[in-house]
Amino acid sequence: MDRYLNMAIKSVITEFPKVGTILKDYEIGCVTCGVGTCLLKDIIEIHNVPKPVEAEMMNKIEAAIKGGDTSKEEMQEIIGMPVPKVIAYSEPIQRLVDEHALIKRYLSLIPDLCDRINMDLEGNRELIQQGVVFIKQFADKFHHAKEEDILFEYAKGNTDIINVMLEDHKKGRCYVKSILLGVETGDAAFITYSLENYRELLTEHIKKEDEILYPWIEKGMSLNQIDELKGRFDIVDFEFGSDFYERWKCFVDSLDK
Ligand SMILES: [Fe+2]
Ligand SMILES: [Fe+2]
Repeated sequence: MDRYLNMAIKSVITEFPKVGTILKDYEIGCVTCGVGTCLLKDIIEIHNVPKPVEAEMMNKIEAAIKGGDTSKEEMQEIIGMPVPKVIAYSEPIQRLVDEHALIKRYLSLIPDLCDRINMDLEGNRELIQQGVVFIKQFADKFHHAKEEDILFEYAKGNTDIINVMLEDHKKGRCYVKSILLGVETGDAAFITYSLENYRELLTEHIKKEDEILYPWIEKGMSLNQIDELKGRFDIVDFEFGSDFYERWKCFVDSLDK
């Protein structure tokens, strides 16, 4: 077992697909994760698995690796067993999670926006452009800048995870450029393709940050660092204006109606 604890999780899953199923059941998405270089022994820490769940999950993984110890019935029991996930964040990290909530509300409106664009591009040009301003100003300039310029500095050790997040931010910026190009050339199909890709990318990205990255970074921070983070976020919030969040919330509220 020790050998496997020090092996990259992707290799473990390739050798023992059951391990991927078990992790998936505990809402740990190593099977679809783009990183995959985490060691099996680090999964518990990175994914902030609660203590009572840790032993149970590792027993199942060990049984799967030893082979045949987990019966079909037991595996079905594992698959059907939901694990509630309640994460308590510190105040500054909660602010980022709240910003995600607003971004997710906008993302949820994209399918309807795409339907409208397919029916009438000209009549929805302004709506597309307003959405792009929201993405650029709120999601990218305000929120992603807080992550890139401040939060990610506190990540220790596994830089692969940070690189994946930075790559997602870059891809998001490319999709925004594509949306604008589509508006410029009057290509409705290209706009909706880019919007859908942006929605998919950000939905997955936010889930990874809320459930994996933020708890992991936070766990490695001292109380002083959390205080420092709060102070640095306060400065950014002040620079953007006290009504910045509220203004964009009103924008999303208005779209919702
Ligand atoms: Fe991010
Ligand atoms: Fe984020």
